[in-house]
Amino acid sequence: MEIKKVLVIGAGTMGCGIAHCLAEHQVNVFLMDLSVEISRKALLKINERLHRSVDSGEITVQDKQKILEKIVIVEDIEKAADADFVIETIVEDIETKKDLFKSLDRAFSKDVVLASNTSSLSISKIAESTNHPERVAGMHFFNPAHKMKLVEIIRGEKTSDQTIIKIERFAQFIGKIPVEVKDSPGFIVNRVLIPMINEAAQLLEENIANKESIDTAMKLGAGHPIGPLALADLIGIDVCVNILENLEKNLGDTKYKPCNLLKLMAKENKLGRKTGHGFYDY
Ligand code: NAI
Repeated sequence: MEIKKVLVIGAGTMGCGIAHCLAEHQVNVFLMDLSVEISRKALLKINERLHRSVDSGEITVQDKQKILEKIVIVEDIEKAADADFVIETIVEDIETKKDLFKSLDRAFSKDVVLASNTSSLSISKIAESTNHPERVAGMHFFNPAHKMKLVEIIRGEKTSDQTIIKIERFAQFIGKIPVEVKDSPGFIVNRVLIPMINEAAQLLEENIANKESIDTAMKLGAGHPIGPLALADLIGIDVCVNILENLEKNLGDTKYKPCNLLKLMAKENKLGRKTGHGFYDY
């Protein structure tokens, strides 16, 4: 596999899981965020997860050490100049992502793939900020990224076949199953999943059933491994609201409007697992 060093930008929920997944497959990772402090917290989280895997006998202490050694925190792009693949997983905001891709395009030679983990933004629009849109594509992981098998590969208007093939092979190398999808709001999974979460929250808002009943019903009645409200806590309530607003705006249909309960929870910082409070307490 020709990809040896990957720069992961954004060390939040997803960046943390992606860095973990890559390191587990012995890929060297440069981890970057707005501050070194944030990246350190992500590394601590990975350390804790690995500690649990050691405790449960899944891996040895030596395996844990080998994985952790693969991740190096960097404070800026220049410190990761020899990366041969970049995965962006920062805040879901088009202008912030475009600014970053502009800098990435200047910093890395044109054969370095620039992949975005965006959940709902247009890859073609992100790529517009670069001089080499052919090397920009979506590489959409699922939470928790070190466990979930799926990666959606999103082909922007100008993404080259070569870029798609590189991402596909790399995804397989790190143990994922890739599916290709056109650049369209929400791609496959979020276009189907997030409106379902919205509907579940709406049911709760209308007091038609309690949260446990809604989650149990969807687990046992639809064969889902986790209920929609528990899943919303895992994804992040703010991320769900953001995706719904993007779907509504970009598909021009009010059926995607986030329900009041989700909006209120986002406003009150009840964002799910990452803040300790969401539909459930953690
Ligand atoms: P998060 O809020 O947990 O983490 C985002 C991180 O990006 C933060 O640590 C923030 O400090 C950092 N950041 C913001 N601007 C930056 C910049 N200019 N340079 C460097 N770092 C910057 O968000 P999360 O959930 O990890 O989402 C990240 C991306 O992944 C978003 O595009 C989201 O749509 C996508 N995504 C999220 C999933 C989820 O389940 N949470 C699933 C799949 C994709």
